[in-house]
Amino acid sequence: MLSRTMLSRASLLPRIARRRYRSHGADIFYPPSRGVAPLIESESKSRRRFHKQHTTADVLLASTETSNSPSVKNALRPSSCDPAAESSMRMTQPLSSKVMTTLSPTFQRFALKDKVAIVTGGARGLGLNMTQALCESGIKAVAIFDIQPTLGESMAAALSTSTGIPVKYYNVDVVDEESVDSAVQKVATELGQIDILINSAGVAFSNIPAERYKMSDFEKTININLMGSFRIARAVGRHMIAATATRTRPASSNADLPDRSIILIASMSGTIVNYPQPQAAYNASKAGVIQLSKSLASEWARYGIRVNTISPGYMDTALNRVPALEGQKEMWKERTPMGRLGAVEELNGLVVWLAGEGGRFCTGADLRVDGGYSIW
Ligand SMILES: NC(=O)c1ccc[n+]([C@@H]2O[C@H](COP(=O)([O-])OP(=O)(O)OC[C@H]3O[C@@H](n4cnc5c(N)ncnc54)[C@H](O)[C@@H]3O)[C@@H](O)[C@H]2O)c1
Repeated sequence: MLSRTMLSRASLLPRIARRRYRSHGADIFYPPSRGVAPLIESESKSRRRFHKQHTTADVLLASTETSNSPSVKNALRPSSCDPAAESSMRMTQPLSSKVMTTLSPTFQRFALKDKVAIVTGGARGLGLNMTQALCESGIKAVAIFDIQPTLGESMAAALSTSTGIPVKYYNVDVVDEESVDSAVQKVATELGQIDILINSAGVAFSNIPAERYKMSDFEKTININLMGSFRIARAVGRHMIAATATRTRPASSNADLPDRSIILIASMSGTIVNYPQPQAAYNASKAGVIQLSKSLASEWARYGIRVNTISPGYMDTALNRVPALEGQKEMWKERTPMGRLGAVEELNGLVVWLAGEGGRFCTGADLRVDGGYSIW
């Protein structure tokens, strides 16, 4: 596990002295003079230990069992601390204001200068990687909303230490309307006007045939993935609309309004049906997220708020690191023209583009990033 001490040791190294090695899917940092002992243990090592401790799926994706089994119940509850996620955290390098001023006009449109973002599900996986990408793109401050306080606090602290950018963790459950609304208010007070929302909080609940699906489990999936997207988008949207209305009245053309961006993480499962695992609730929830995003985009364009979805294919995150899925993973790869799962950071470029001025004319789009899975 990547401990706080290890993180602070890593961040204390002079940046120029850090060398980055990719090994087993994890970034490991070696001090140049020693070159042998990694400061951050390899992901495969921590993953082995993690799987030893969690013989059944104690992460978010259920295995091939019925919804009555305890492990399926666990599947809707993220593990309290996830070593695999922690060790996959690579060093984050901030974009200095000096470099920002020397960027070409095209690259300047990718810089998120003076912007404040909220990332739900930002304690690990895709959300954590997207938070890192924001920190590397000149953002002013980031709020991580997640239900895993230990992980959320330590990741926020690590990002703040290595970049100098305020990254704050807020304990928020996207199923709790009050907690969502009050946390959004708090962010506005503590970090400033919110310009960007990335909603990455989500659960998958797979390998359950529809005829055996319990209504309570179906509802939980919809409540987190779809209604959670609406709760957080509504809270942030209200805040953005209020801020815009005091500056400029909504006009038919939004060209003069400040650019604000809401990005909901949907899935290719919102438009295709995955094979071989039956997962009706997840697929339906993500289809709902795509349609929700388009609806919000049409209503809020006049306030300068863009709303888009990113729909990943199979990504190599903790959500899919369940021993029971190893066999299925081979089938997923076979059906993906690129022959692999996506790496956790492979959505980052798109996120940064969509979040800022680069994507200024893009709204209501569903952007699929799936290694070509949906071509066949
Ligand atoms: N990994 C994939 O292959 C894949 C593919 C397509 C779409 N997605 C979507 O991407 C998003 C992120 O997936 P990931 O692989 O990073 O998953 P992950 O499990 O690694 O991370 C999800 C994060 O969301 C948080 N979370 C869960 N429920 C929450 C709640 N109620 N309130 C607040 N936070 C909550 C978790 O604590 C966790 O930190 C999800 O919406 C998922 O459906 C993932």
